[in-house]
Amino acid sequence: MPIAHPLPLCVAWLLLLVVIVMSDMTNGGVQGPIEGYNSLDDLLTTTPTPGQAAMLLPTAPTAAYTHPKWMEPYFDPSTPRNVTALMGKSAYLSCRVRNLANKTVSWIRHRDIHILTVGSYTYTSDQRFQATHHQDTEDWTLQIKWAQKRDAGMYECQISTQPVRSYFVRLNVVVPTATILGGPDLHVDKGSTINLTCTVKFSPEPPAYIFWYHHEEVINYDSSRGGVSVITEKGDVTTSFLLIQNADLADSGKYSCAPSNADVASVRVHVLNASIGNRIRLITLFNADSFFMDSSYLCATQSLHACKP
Ligand SMILES: *[C@@H]1O[C@H](CO)[C@@H](O)[C@H](O)[C@H]1NC(C)=O
Ligand SMILES: *[C@@H]1O[C@H](CO)[C@@H](O)[C@H](O)[C@H]1NC(C)=O
Ligand SMILES: *[C@@H]1O[C@H](CO)[C@@H](O)[C@H](O)[C@H]1NC(C)=O
Ligand SMILES: *[C@@H]1O[C@H](CO)[C@@H](O)[C@H](O)[C@H]1NC(C)=O
Repeated sequence: MPIAHPLPLCVAWLLLLVVIVMSDMTNGGVQGPIEGYNSLDDLLTTTPTPGQAAMLLPTAPTAAYTHPKWMEPYFDPSTPRNVTALMGKSAYLSCRVRNLANKTVSWIRHRDIHILTVGSYTYTSDQRFQATHHQDTEDWTLQIKWAQKRDAGMYECQISTQPVRSYFVRLNVVVPTATILGGPDLHVDKGSTINLTCTVKFSPEPPAYIFWYHHEEVINYDSSRGGVSVITEKGDVTTSFLLIQNADLADSGKYSCAPSNADVASVRVHVLNASIGNRIRLITLFNADSFFMDSSYLCATQSLHACKP
């Protein structure tokens, strides 16, 4: 009994074809000219049509046939593709190119296909843009000074090969924001613990410090009041907990969280005589649309019709 049949000839041909096609597809992982322009010169002189773009794509390897591939410039794939910068500070976009030889590296802004830099020369009239070449890392860093919201978006690092090679980097411009959970009004029963949670988001690095204020005064953690503590957890989102034990009516009022790198966030804390606190919970149960309250009486507009001091 035969153990194995030789492959029929047609199957063997099919396999060979698959191998050829696949080897063609793994052509160095180089990105083609996706926006439909071919080189910096073309970009300056012509406006390509979508039809031209479609024709350019499949012909990408022509340059690779005239020179050995190892001599061609290529991008270091470890270069970050998603960069987040703080508004008002400098943003740095890296483009590390190996084997550049006598080719040029340009930076292009995708929003308006605007050439920003060519080599170390700033091409745009906006002098906030500057490309710096670092010999040791083969990096062509695009610096954007005083980054603004409108600078956010896609940037293209381009090598002047034929056809061009492109590396895309997305820039995010963020403003650190502080928020106190549960605001703008917090109701706390007299005698319980006031627990305020302030989070700082969109901060590339944790804030150097966070100050807490009661009214407009910095809270002193070792004041004679006692029972006041702060726990701060730094991370991608930095969180600061202000804990005030045994809340008294005098602890009512405005509390603010002021991180070193974000705008101030505030809440108003209402310390309630325990009985009033319980009545508010009752109203919440009754699902009242709104209620008014002062120190001596409570008034709910919907479910509780009685509204007397
Ligand atoms: C890029 O970074 C920003 C900010 O850190 C993040 O919100 C976004 O999801 C990231 N995008 C990708 C594609 O990783
Ligand atoms: C530099 O460019 C010229 C053509 O512009 C080419 O003939 C030459 O081989 C290039 N040199 C290197 C080192 O790639
Ligand atoms: C304070 O509130 C936060 C958020 O609700 C919670 O995670 C934390 O455990 C609370 N801390 C204390 C001491 O109750
Ligand atoms: C809270 O309750 C106490 C007695 O239980 C009373 O003397 C005090 O006036 C109340 N305070 C307010 C602000 O309602």
